[in-house]
Amino acid sequence: MDTSLHPLIAARNERTRWFRQARFGMFIHWGLYAIPARGEWVRSHERLSNEAYQPYFQEFNPTRYDARAWAQLARRAGMQYAVLTAKHHDGFCLFDSQLTDYKSTNTPCRRDLVREYVDAFRAEGLKVGLYYSLLDWHHPDYPAYGDPFHPMRDHPAYKDRPQDFGRYLDYFHAQVRELLTGYGTIDIMWFDFSYGSMSGETWRAADLVEMARSLQPALLIDNRLDASGDTNRSIESLEPPPYCGDFACPEQIIPPQGLTDAAGRPVPWEACLTLNNHWGYCAADRDYKSARQVIRALVECVSKGGNMLLNVGPDARGEIPAESVEILEQVGAWMHRNGESIYGCDRSSLPKPEWGRYTQNGNMLYAHIFERGIGPVNLRGLNGKIRKARLLADGSEIKLSRPWNVHDYPDDAFIEFPSSRLPDETDTVVALELEEI
Ligand code: GLC
Repeated sequence: MDTSLHPLIAARNERTRWFRQARFGMFIHWGLYAIPARGEWVRSHERLSNEAYQPYFQEFNPTRYDARAWAQLARRAGMQYAVLTAKHHDGFCLFDSQLTDYKSTNTPCRRDLVREYVDAFRAEGLKVGLYYSLLDWHHPDYPAYGDPFHPMRDHPAYKDRPQDFGRYLDYFHAQVRELLTGYGTIDIMWFDFSYGSMSGETWRAADLVEMARSLQPALLIDNRLDASGDTNRSIESLEPPPYCGDFACPEQIIPPQGLTDAAGRPVPWEACLTLNNHWGYCAADRDYKSARQVIRALVECVSKGGNMLLNVGPDARGEIPAESVEILEQVGAWMHRNGESIYGCDRSSLPKPEWGRYTQNGNMLYAHIFERGIGPVNLRGLNGKIRKARLLADGSEIKLSRPWNVHDYPDDAFIEFPSSRLPDETDTVVALELEEI
């Protein structure tokens, strides 16, 4: 452990070691909102009352839910961990909480969906995380009237509703305790999210983190106990509060330079991204990204020292949409051949090349070539520094050469592809073994 660092930061660096190697995870947004199928914010957007939302609870029965199939898909895609919504903003619990009736075991489905998930994902060798919403639009003690997001935010009947926020906090802390005691080792708790004065100690965040770590010392916690998707807050501080989190989670964006703290040292981070434009299942949204976009986004994250948490939104029957499955299979095929350039890799000290990106792991430098360009591919500044070059996908030799016309570029190394097209138009990875780091 580095003793010159603030103890919280040193501990964070230790704890996140596996996470920074894993690089690629699956986010799963699932709940009652899969039935209206207009995204997980449907209650808020359409100002649905508890009564208006209740039919979905009475009907929820995802008979095709097969956690093993999800876990196998994640593993085939090359993912190393997953995060499932144990409770989203609508307050519905996918687990058999003793503290509420508003849970999956009281719907026609009668199953503890979290238990099936943790068992199946662990069995596939994946680390398991749980998302827990700090907001709760179902709990009577969560602020409703005047809150910026609550479905009843401007409903006069809620104006003078008596409420006791402390009681909500007791409930939410106790549910976190249930999740961290009843389901074996939980690798990540992903709290979502803070806003305005609903941040940090308003959540009794220091106590929460202390309790969580006393139950599961290796647990990773995201940074949204005082942040949201658009701000990173105290995780970048050199004297952070105990709830600053282990990693930042920029949402629907990949930070231009990766993330660093106030002293310029890297901060662990994970970009969470949707495959279409919604987290929760949205039947009308068919605007999916291509496998190529996803692969290049993953490479971009790793080349900037971060992870990618890629979302799927299973439907009301319990199935991951076919389009998502198809994309993940294609990503998996690429990962199968090129995963070595992702896992355990980090940013390179070399500047971003014109034709793509670099990732690096010790003296292995991975050239991710997106653009073939014209002529030999220039590896700037690497002349004499490369022991050998191989196409990562099949291990075949890549010829480094200095053709007649590179005379004026003595510091650069060059790759000559025999054809004007790249072997893999999505991302051709050349593994470069360097002489020195
Ligand atoms: C946002 C949204 C939420 C989603 C999350 C994922 O904060 O409120 O619906 O779960 O981002 O990062």
